[in-house]
Amino acid sequence: MPISRLPRNTPMPSPELLPMSSPPFKPVRTLAVTGGKGGVGKTNVSANLAVALSGMGQRTLLLDADLGLANVDVLLGLSPKHTLADLVAGRCELDEIILEGPNGVLVVPAASGRRHMAELRPAEHAGLVNVFNDLQRDLDLLVVDTAAGITDSVLTFCQAAQDALVVVCDEPASITDAYALIKVLARERGVDRVQVVANMVRSPQEGRNLHDKLSRVCERFIGDVSLNYLGAVPQCDWLRMAVQRQQAVVAAYPGSPSARALAEIAQRISRWQAPTAPRGHVEFFVERMLRQGAVA
Ligand SMILES: Nc1ncnc2c1ncn2[C@@H]1O[C@H](COP(=O)(O)OP(=O)(O)OP(=O)(O)O)[C@@H](O)[C@H]1O
Ligand SMILES: [Mg+2]
Repeated sequence: MPISRLPRNTPMPSPELLPMSSPPFKPVRTLAVTGGKGGVGKTNVSANLAVALSGMGQRTLLLDADLGLANVDVLLGLSPKHTLADLVAGRCELDEIILEGPNGVLVVPAASGRRHMAELRPAEHAGLVNVFNDLQRDLDLLVVDTAAGITDSVLTFCQAAQDALVVVCDEPASITDAYALIKVLARERGVDRVQVVANMVRSPQEGRNLHDKLSRVCERFIGDVSLNYLGAVPQCDWLRMAVQRQQAVVAAYPGSPSARALAEIAQRISRWQAPTAPRGHVEFFVERMLRQGAVA
């Protein structure tokens, strides 16, 4: 059934009203990679973290949520037959569009150049989040690559994930855009915790400084949001070469500086706990978890 017809933007049903037919799935950790500014490395960070985590034995699904200009499939050298556009049009189910990428990572590809996909309504974004509740696959982690900007789609996918990871690089516009995004997430979507990854740094210190700078501005002007520094990815020619070859740098050049940094960040993420309780808004996999009575 097309996403647009799914009446999903309704309050969550209580667990006892939900059918117990599906197999018991574990709670899924969810992470949305964002950044405000375009070109800061969101897609490379999300795709490489997902591939690295999958290589560590975590069952990982990578969702391309850059709905208008999708390119996770291009980055990973995949050729999707169907995309989220087919799902939204009601031509197929979510499970049918899932592809397998490097290290066994599962990928939900989106379409590129379909303008209507970039112009979905808020209820349709919520519908896309909720469609994951019907996915009959056991997963440990969902990584979401979001578009640039602070549109409803970016905000909804970030709010629907357990954690939002903000990619920032040492450019004034990246810092101001990251700040603007965090402010809107905090004020309009109640996000009170943000993970920070500094990308394209020339030294580890540069990454720390970037986080500290962003943290100070957020503390001063937003207040109730905390920033957690996850690490830095160096400016790295191996990563650019992997992009040219349509491969994930963590798979193509695992010994390169960027691949090692991304693998370290993935290690940190692999230790995160899964959610134990719903937060009361549209959230990935929460309804599925409630159906099974898996919530504490
Ligand atoms: N650590 C890095 N070292 C060198 N180059 C990098 C690094 N990270 C990203 N890049 C370069 O930046 C380009 C853009 O990266 P990417 O597509 O991941 O950004 P994005 O934030 O997803 O962009 P968009 O906003 O368009 O979705 C890459 O193709 C690559 O050439
Ligand atoms: Mg991108």
